[in-house]
Amino acid sequence: MSKVTVVGAGNVGATCADVLAYREVAEEIVLVDIKEGIAEGKALDIWQKAPINQYDSRTLGSTNDYSKTAKSEVVVITSGLPRKPGMTRDDLIETNAGIVKSVTENIIKYSPNAIIIVVSNPLDVMTYQAHLTSGLPRNKVMGMAGILDTARYRAFLAEELNVSGKEIQAILLGGHGDTMVPLPRYTTVAGIPVTELVAKEKLDTIIERTKFGGGELVKLMGTSAWYAPGAAAAQMVEAILKNQRRVFPVCIKLDGEYGINDCYLGVPVILGKNGIEQVIELNLNAEEMALLQTSRGHVKEVMTVLDQLKS
Ligand code: NAI
Ligand code: 2OP
Repeated sequence: MSKVTVVGAGNVGATCADVLAYREVAEEIVLVDIKEGIAEGKALDIWQKAPINQYDSRTLGSTNDYSKTAKSEVVVITSGLPRKPGMTRDDLIETNAGIVKSVTENIIKYSPNAIIIVVSNPLDVMTYQAHLTSGLPRNKVMGMAGILDTARYRAFLAEELNVSGKEIQAILLGGHGDTMVPLPRYTTVAGIPVTELVAKEKLDTIIERTKFGGGELVKLMGTSAWYAPGAAAAQMVEAILKNQRRVFPVCIKLDGEYGINDCYLGVPVILGKNGIEQVIELNLNAEEMALLQTSRGHVKEVMTVLDQLKS
């Protein structure tokens, strides 16, 4: 039986579980939260939607009882504080590192072979935390950010060009923060280079809006986004469980790719049944490489903060 656990039944976790159920990605989807009753309630609500939306995936909830998550093939970690207006993702590090550590310990106890997808922020460094705690090989511990960030970029381009968002293909590198690196040279509209369709000045404006896309939503809602983040995490679970070998930007520990070692950054990968099947190395030009190095520097600084918290 295929089984997925989503930890954190808040905005992102519940949305992810809902998408997983609706798309029948797994037979059983377990939602876990530390707050009494919330996971059970949301899982029951999603299950009661099944007759309306016509799906068979079973959703179950648990208040911090990880025995119910046993033998999960994929686990999505969304537990942790979201940012409020005026906060950066990095401000969340101390609280969320403790949460991600304890959740990962519990997950590994009951599902030692699971593939872990981290969503909690600061994303790249929480992926580092989950990797350290789990002791799993790097292909089995990854972070979700790039699918969300490219979706924002694609949506803004679709709006500008008045075409379907489905037609926009794009890739983006780097950390999940203001230093992320959208790549116009690797962006196409049904195969047509975007640089042939959108003027440089407009493209630069769209790239800037993408970099601050998370903050735009925090300003509007007083908390961070959840529909696109939840759907993005579910898309990664689907690619893994169905061995789709889809190409997505995903956060992973780099071991020499792009000339970078020991840093968690978003890069294009192939996602399949073993998690990250392959990291794809692009032939970056000097300008793109410089932007990636800036992003690396920022993530490294926050990784150092985590290292200091541990010591
Ligand atoms: P939320 O506040 O709606 O939900 C978080 C849930 O985690 C709460 O229900 C809370 O009770 C639970 N939780 C806290 N400690 C826990 C523990 N030890 N064990 C189990 N559950 C625990 O927050 P939301 O909006 O769902 O965001 C969750 C996280 O995802 C935040 O850190 C946010 O910054 C991050 N995020 C990351 C994105 C990305 O692209 N990587 C996009 C959107 C959000
Ligand atoms: C986002 O980009 C806050 O990371 C979250 O929406």
